[in-house]
Amino acid sequence: MRSFQQIPELRTHLNALREEKLVIGFVPTMGALHDGHIALIRRAVTECDRTVVSIFVNPIQFGPGEDFDRYPRDLAQDSRICQEEGVDALFVPAVGEMFPSADGDGPAESPTRVHVPALEDILEGAARPGHLSGVTTICAKLFNIVQPRRAYFGQKDYQQLIAIQRMVADLCMPITVVPVATVREPDGLALSSRNVYLSPEERPRAVALSAALKEGERLYAAGERNADTLREAVRDVLVRAGLSAIEYIEVADPRTMVRLNHIDDEAVLLAAVRIGALRLIDNVLLGITLNQHLRRL
Ligand code: PAJ
Repeated sequence: MRSFQQIPELRTHLNALREEKLVIGFVPTMGALHDGHIALIRRAVTECDRTVVSIFVNPIQFGPGEDFDRYPRDLAQDSRICQEEGVDALFVPAVGEMFPSADGDGPAESPTRVHVPALEDILEGAARPGHLSGVTTICAKLFNIVQPRRAYFGQKDYQQLIAIQRMVADLCMPITVVPVATVREPDGLALSSRNVYLSPEERPRAVALSAALKEGERLYAAGERNADTLREAVRDVLVRAGLSAIEYIEVADPRTMVRLNHIDDEAVLLAAVRIGALRLIDNVLLGITLNQHLRRL
């Protein structure tokens, strides 16, 4: 595996692969790799001739007062994982490489941004102003640097996945976005680099988020199609588990993320809660699998 910090060197390496007609797969990450990231990497390694992983804690997707400074970083361990998983190239740019006007932690000037307006002000977008365009902007830049044929994203960050799919379609980027199912702990908690922030007292309560969504799944399977009823059922489980700092519980169209009152056939059920200093998000698809989702988008 080769590791790159500079864009031109990575480009030269990847241009040579493209000349050999090799299919390049790409897994963008912010590092602190766990089994969720590894699932994306394995899928890319299986489906592509060469896999590129980027590790970049992207300043423009963090809001003021969020955890940019203390976001977990462990490059030595991440490199070991990528090497073991058969990654061809690891791209680890400094902030100044991605934002040449950078001054310390972020771009000094406001850089060109990519917006997906339909998704930006709802759910995660409403809770974290500027976050989603920070993600689409950095992914557009990374896509232009790596020029992958396929790019892998987790269902865990569902709105991010949909925003990237929208951006790629709307801007005619020649990239297939591949969604990968959420990897969970045995008790259901979705893996996240930020789970390290959970204290031993908070950890058992965090399980309630996936348990609540499971209850929604169970009701849907039993025939419930009223979105309010599902939202209330999810809220009940959360509140009973002591998770009262609920940011949102939403039933939405899985492609547009528009709020639904009634589920005709399929939906995505999403929730965000706060536990101490941590925000946890999770989601489940109702009436549709991730593979069907991929084919029909
Ligand atoms: P990061 O949180 O490091 O996640 C990188 C990728 O791993 C994302 O596509 C995310 O959805 C996926 N992922 C995280 N936890 C997962 C889990 N438990 N199961 C399956 N996939 C999981 O998401 C980002 O970084 C950034 O926003 C990024 C896209 C890199 C842009 O900066």
